[in-house]
Amino acid sequence: MLGMHVGIDFGSSSTIMYVDGKGIVLDEPTMIAVDTETGIPIAIGNAAYTINGRTGENIEVISPVQNGIISNYTMAQHILRYYFQRLCGNSIFKPTVILTVPSGATNLERHTFLEVAMRAGAGRVCLVEEALASAIGVGFENNALSGRFIVNIGGGAVDVSVVTMGSLSVSKSVKVGGKSIDEAIRRYLRRERDILIGPQTAERLKICLGSAVPRREEIAVMANGKSGLDHMPITFEVTSTELYGCIRERLDVMVRGIKSVLEITPPELVGDISENGIVLTGGTSLLYGMKRFLESETGIEVFLADDPIYSCVSGAATIVRDMDFLTENGYSFKTVQQLS
Ligand SMILES: Nc1ncnc2c1ncn2[C@@H]1O[C@H](COP(=O)(O)OP(=O)(O)OP(=O)(O)O)[C@@H](O)[C@H]1O
Ligand SMILES: [Mg+2]
Repeated sequence: MLGMHVGIDFGSSSTIMYVDGKGIVLDEPTMIAVDTETGIPIAIGNAAYTINGRTGENIEVISPVQNGIISNYTMAQHILRYYFQRLCGNSIFKPTVILTVPSGATNLERHTFLEVAMRAGAGRVCLVEEALASAIGVGFENNALSGRFIVNIGGGAVDVSVVTMGSLSVSKSVKVGGKSIDEAIRRYLRRERDILIGPQTAERLKICLGSAVPRREEIAVMANGKSGLDHMPITFEVTSTELYGCIRERLDVMVRGIKSVLEITPPELVGDISENGIVLTGGTSLLYGMKRFLESETGIEVFLADDPIYSCVSGAATIVRDMDFLTENGYSFKTVQQLS
């Protein structure tokens, strides 16, 4: 087959691309900055992330994938087109793409992923559910009979699935992830301390101080923001104890989602899960104490994937290298001509 073979995890926080024969060639925030008057893109990926929160009214920074789903068709298309052009240059052959999608996505949402990738320049696209890709990415045998519980906590959503015999038995997406923790931190500082901070500072505070269980020893960092009182710059100290409360509230929503999947999982598979444990992937699974927190909430052993941010794209990469997987499991490629 001519042209590049590409595996893509087009997530709410980051876009990660694997190219057959080259490895992971791209890992950048799923963000685009546009001129608000003309609608013309002026920065994509890392460049858009850097200016986020630092722009005037004439520039808007947009995250076109929200809660795991494409929420801005045109901007999502701009981003993928830009990356396809960067990867393929002037090649006349369009890339063949394995695109991961949230396991709980509706048919309409799946169709949007397909259409955006095609219109952005893909030649053929096959959608694969994130949970299946992650299961392959962490090294599970594809056709294992025994059920595996995969929890992918990303930037915009928690993707919860039971995978058995190479397909999804039960799945659900809960619309809460790392970004909503960042937002909770911003809201907390505004409400309790009258301090305004930008999205990047909130994410940094989460990564440095945040935790899913109380830390054994309190830690603190200095951060910069703006006083809500006089709108002047302010340097302030924040502690891990302070942030724990507002983070915990978001984690409780995640846990309810995870438990609701267990509730509708057939008893035989729940038996498998209690033996095999929960496999945890996605960037937010790196939050301090997340494994311990989920174990205490569910009573099930939790295994954190070796490289949780890359589990999903690693699975897509394995599929890219062995396309037989797709036909053997009932998947098929779509081309632009087949879009209805
Ligand atoms: N060490 C860390 N501690 C806490 N959170 C982290 C850490 N590293 C990354 N994150 C968070 O992980 C999230 C990104 O994870 P990931 O790349 O899996 O998301 P995504 O695939 O883009 O989103 P989604 O799958 O929800 O659409 C971000 O919110 C980021 O802040
Ligand atoms: Mg993801």
